[in-house]
Amino acid sequence: MDPATPPRGGHGPSRPTDRAPEAEALKVFLETMGCQMNRLDSELVLARLCAAGHEIVPTPKTADVVLYNTCSVRDHAEGKVLSRLGADARRKRAGRKLIVGVLGCMAQRLGESLRRQCPQVDVVCGPGQLHRLDALLTAASAGEPAVALDPDRREKPMGAETFDALDLARDPRAEPSSAQAYVRVMKGCDKFCTYCIVPFVRGPERSRDPARIAEEVRRLLDAGRSEITLLGQTVNSYRWRAGEQTVRFSDLLERLAELPGLRRLRFVTSHPIDFGDDILQAVAALPTVCEYLHLPAQSGSDAVLKRMNRRYRRQDYDDLLDRARDIVPAVVLAGDFIVGFPGESEADHQASADLIRRSGYKNSFVFKYSPRPGTAAARMADDVPAAVKKRRNNELLAVQEEVGLAHHRQYVGDVMEVLVAGPSPRSKKQANPPSPESTQLTARTRRDHIVLFDGPERLGGQYVRVRITGATSLGMLGELTPADSDPAAVGREQTAS
Ligand code: 5AD
Ligand code: SF4
Repeated sequence: MDPATPPRGGHGPSRPTDRAPEAEALKVFLETMGCQMNRLDSELVLARLCAAGHEIVPTPKTADVVLYNTCSVRDHAEGKVLSRLGADARRKRAGRKLIVGVLGCMAQRLGESLRRQCPQVDVVCGPGQLHRLDALLTAASAGEPAVALDPDRREKPMGAETFDALDLARDPRAEPSSAQAYVRVMKGCDKFCTYCIVPFVRGPERSRDPARIAEEVRRLLDAGRSEITLLGQTVNSYRWRAGEQTVRFSDLLERLAELPGLRRLRFVTSHPIDFGDDILQAVAALPTVCEYLHLPAQSGSDAVLKRMNRRYRRQDYDDLLDRARDIVPAVVLAGDFIVGFPGESEADHQASADLIRRSGYKNSFVFKYSPRPGTAAARMADDVPAAVKKRRNNELLAVQEEVGLAHHRQYVGDVMEVLVAGPSPRSKKQANPPSPESTQLTARTRRDHIVLFDGPERLGGQYVRVRITGATSLGMLGELTPADSDPAAVGREQTAS
């Protein structure tokens, strides 16, 4: 999961609406915490609120409604929301008329108790209920209770309506304009890793009808998107059954890969146990499918993997990386690790460091274990002291830095096609706004490498070729090349053989 990310801007002014004429148009600010799934939810929610006649504002200062799309994966993410809610309570005490809403995983985890704990919260909306948000805002404006939670996963399963209600109603024209879009292919998780809150807050694993997915992708491509990232908590566990027929994840890739207008098809995040050779063969065979796999290992030690209920051993993971490199020679890998899981010894920790050293990962996300109430691991003694977690976190990051630098260095001198995201964070922070004709841009290769280079701002959303001139542990530095330079090298990147 990515660090907290603000919602992308670009939602235009309110458009004509099908709301009741008496319904109040509100100025809405939304902050997103957590993973890509939350980012997608936020984009869809904003587009929907906008279509319903509300105005999206970039800061909470002028807002009538402040919403947080929250993450529960670690305590730290929830702490951040509580501190934002503290500021909202002060605003309300100072007499400001404000509707405060908590959406997503933390809303689902805490439910009604969130309003008891934080009376400044007016709206509580679980991740499967976001299509009801406009109605909840109307209720909250009228001072009525506005709580919508997903059913407990042990009770009635959520139907496909809740699944598609938000996604299929999306209007690509109302979303921020860029070449990139996320599409959900499955929801929830049944793996129950012992440390993880996701199966409780996102509910059981449900795959989506491939025809609906294809329809959504087609509409995004028609609206000018060309890079599609398929999302799922364990995206490769996707499986759709219709009568006798079963559509596997590899079949879905095949079905989507040749849609007109598609240039890049990616998917995150994968679980190692559901990664069959059929998926690797699809990645190797389908030119639009990017050779990039995010394959969280979590630990390099069998003892820890067992206590985490990851359902594979270290050897299985190593074998998977070997199979991946064998079938997709240009594959680029990324990982996730947790340090300080209950009972993690120094030897267990060294096993994780060893895994990273041998992996060749482009990057990995390293997290300090954070006990989550209600999970199986929360009943184990959280016996690795905070200082040791911190040291192990730093040690794994240091190993990853070396591995990442070596990984990126191999491309120096190559010419790569990149999709430009826009000005880099550094250029955005500069005191004097950079010239639109030459600023530092950030872009991604098809295999998810970050490349920084100087160029005109107007290249945002476009594919250009850059020559790689330098490497860092996190990415690469490059320079723009004339479009026709060194076609052989570009061919190498595009086919990524
Ligand atoms: N503590 C720390 N990290 C966690 N993750 C999930 N649950 C926890 C937890 N309780 C990490 C895993 C997962 C990523 C999204 O977050 O590494 O892959
Ligand atoms: Fe959480 Fe494990 Fe499911 Fe990933 S596979 S969402 S870590 S329970």
